[in-house]
Amino acid sequence: MADLLEIQGLTKHFPVRRGVLRRQIGTVQAVTDVSFTLKRDETLAIVGESGCGKSTLGRAILRLLEPSAGTIRLGGEDVTSLDRRALRAARKRMQIIFQDPYGSLNPRMTVREALSEPLLLHGMATPATIRGEVDRLITMCGLSAWHAERYPHEFSGGQRQRVGIARALATRPSLIVCDEPVSALDVSVQAQIVNLLQDLQRELGLAYVFISHDLGVVRHIANRVAVMYLGRIVEEAQTDQLYGNPRHPYTRALLAAAPRADPATARHKPPIEGGTPSAMALPSGCAFHPRCPLAIERCRTERPEIRAVDRNRVACHRADEPVTGTLDQAPGQGSPALLRRLAILERRRAAG
Ligand SMILES: Nc1ncnc2c1ncn2[C@@H]1O[C@H](COP(=O)(O)OP(=O)(O)O)[C@@H](O)[C@H]1O
Ligand code: SF4
Ligand SMILES: [Mg+2]
Repeated sequence: MADLLEIQGLTKHFPVRRGVLRRQIGTVQAVTDVSFTLKRDETLAIVGESGCGKSTLGRAILRLLEPSAGTIRLGGEDVTSLDRRALRAARKRMQIIFQDPYGSLNPRMTVREALSEPLLLHGMATPATIRGEVDRLITMCGLSAWHAERYPHEFSGGQRQRVGIARALATRPSLIVCDEPVSALDVSVQAQIVNLLQDLQRELGLAYVFISHDLGVVRHIANRVAVMYLGRIVEEAQTDQLYGNPRHPYTRALLAAAPRADPATARHKPPIEGGTPSAMALPSGCAFHPRCPLAIERCRTERPEIRAVDRNRVACHRADEPVTGTLDQAPGQGSPALLRRLAILERRRAAG
């Protein structure tokens, strides 16, 4: 099947200005040279520590932020250079949902009004069909039609996220960027929203770019995972492959630091040593070298290009050496409570 989304060399750097003259004193290299593809029905997770550029990447893909370089193709069409009008038409096909939909919902609008807006704006409904269309969207997301008459503050966090998803679906997109969509929710509610996203994907053939720092959620929902460090993808692989055979020292450290699924073996792991350097003053060579237990002289001077190692794509000079005991090799799997919850919901769903 042809790729739905093709990202090539996507880069977003922010100028840093200071003083009354707004002189540029530096650059934040939030996202640099990111490339990947995504098929219909597929979920690519973007993981990494806070500040590594996940949200910037998500917004740049939708051109909510103008990329500094690179190309974005959606359904074969180059959307990188579309003018405003053409971009508005393309926007129908790509939507975003946020961690806290409260911020993007107008508190003075009922849910019906909030959902009617994009439907009418994009010509997805007429005054004659709008009522039924809003009811359809809201029930598809697990709410009842009468919820549409309510205001955002009358909903729980999980319900509000359902409204956020319904609104994203209004324009019948083929791609949805999910930026930490369950990070603000209780574990039991997280599982429900994750399952809703999966059901919708199956029914509607959606592709997701799923941004998260929670490796447990990611393992459950993603077909493929891309690990970001300081603006670059350092490893990408099929989900099972990434969790079972991580090749990049940073991926291995992230997995080792994640909570264990099995409470019997759960123990507190120290976080990865050293703080994340600033995206304004990136280390030379491999940006991970100041924190990497495997760093050699070459790592300080030469940046590793991303390349195929096993069935992974990895940016590390030492990725094809056998994994040593230097790093914990029994990867963590995410929050035990969440995984239990997801398993219960999955069994229920399988039972009909
Ligand atoms: N508008 C902006 N101007 C300057 N720097 C920014 C802007 N937005 C994000 N950044 C910086 O870009 C880097 C990546 O941020 P972000 O994409 O939000 O990371 P994440 O979502 O992974 O936490 C951070 O260093 C952040 O401070
Ligand atoms: S290139 Fe060197 S510093 Fe970077 S991750 Fe690999 S071994 Fe560590
Ligand atoms: Mg973010």
